[in-house]
Amino acid sequence: AKAPIILGIETSCDETAAALVDGERRILSHALWSQIEAHALYGGVVPEIAARAHVDHLDHLIRKALLDAEMKLADVDAIAATAGPGLIGGVMVGVVTAKALAFGANKPFIAINHLEGHALSPRLCADIAFPYLLLLISGGHCQLLIVDGVGAYERLGSTIDDAAGEAFDKTAKLLGLGYPGGPAIEQAALKGEVTLKGEIGRFSLPRPLTDQPGCNFSFSGLKTAIRRCAERLESEQGGLYERDINDLAAATQAAIGDCLINRTDHAISRYLDSRGPKAPTLVVAGGVAANATLRSRLETLAQGRGLSFMAPPPWLCTDNGAMIAWAGLERFLLGQNDGLAAPARPRWPL
Ligand code: KG4
Ligand code: ZN
Repeated sequence: AKAPIILGIETSCDETAAALVDGERRILSHALWSQIEAHALYGGVVPEIAARAHVDHLDHLIRKALLDAEMKLADVDAIAATAGPGLIGGVMVGVVTAKALAFGANKPFIAINHLEGHALSPRLCADIAFPYLLLLISGGHCQLLIVDGVGAYERLGSTIDDAAGEAFDKTAKLLGLGYPGGPAIEQAALKGEVTLKGEIGRFSLPRPLTDQPGCNFSFSGLKTAIRRCAERLESEQGGLYERDINDLAAATQAAIGDCLINRTDHAISRYLDSRGPKAPTLVVAGGVAANATLRSRLETLAQGRGLSFMAPPPWLCTDNGAMIAWAGLERFLLGQNDGLAAPARPRWPL
């Protein structure tokens, strides 16, 4: 039998994307329109602008994905779209478009949880068996999960305030580095001096919750501490120099990294305590997983504890259509068809 082909649509935040993926883990095409420029002026995503931009671009991107793969809609076995969680205007654009295509072409429509798209994306890249340990770090979410199967997630911990990506974005805004903050902080940090935990460095930032058991995260205290450092420098020297910004970016990235490492280390222990001694793969996904320093720190942690490590390539970590197509494929293979009644959901926990 020929490998099934799924069209995946992503519109939950500020990327409009469509991709074709098949059951042999091939990405046949992927088309993406980043709205970053439309939002940069405002220092963050403006929901109304995002929804309108999805309307403007989605149909062209779907046509491009089909053309690039030299396929017609008739060649596709099912249409999957992010149905939440996310900015509801954008989610509705994706869901209604996917339903219309599914209805017109008489194909199944599969409603995908955006977080599940990130969570299953490693399986599009490599043959990773369930269960695995997942650190999901994006702009809206920050969680440690055991992924037991499609739709089967045991949450070990999550953030009690901001997500990791949010911490990057808010710090970048504070430092005048613009939006989106993650890549900007990563670049600035390369030129800055890292303040390692325990050392007397230029800036000492807190590592919230790391002195406590468990796998929850907290990042809002970090943001406040960085604001205080910036304000102190501004009053002492009348402004921030480039060197200050680079050093603060490096300190931010180091502090966020320490929190992620500490919590993931606890999660590894929890996994081994509750599931027995066979070490799982540690997988990291979501936009923040595009960060090279964080990836290598997490890989070192995994190696030190005898786990194998996997992170999708950076473009598959940030939002894209291929991960939604892949999650759609996994659900298609389980016989799922959500039909036209499936709702668009602003909130939808995994
Ligand atoms: O997964 P994603 O594209 O969208 C959500 O589902 O939220 O993640 C976006 C987040 C943003 O907060 C962005 O600043 C962060 O991922 N991000 C990064 C990097 N690239 C994107 N954070 C740190 N380092 C990066 N290189
Ligand atoms: Zn995402």
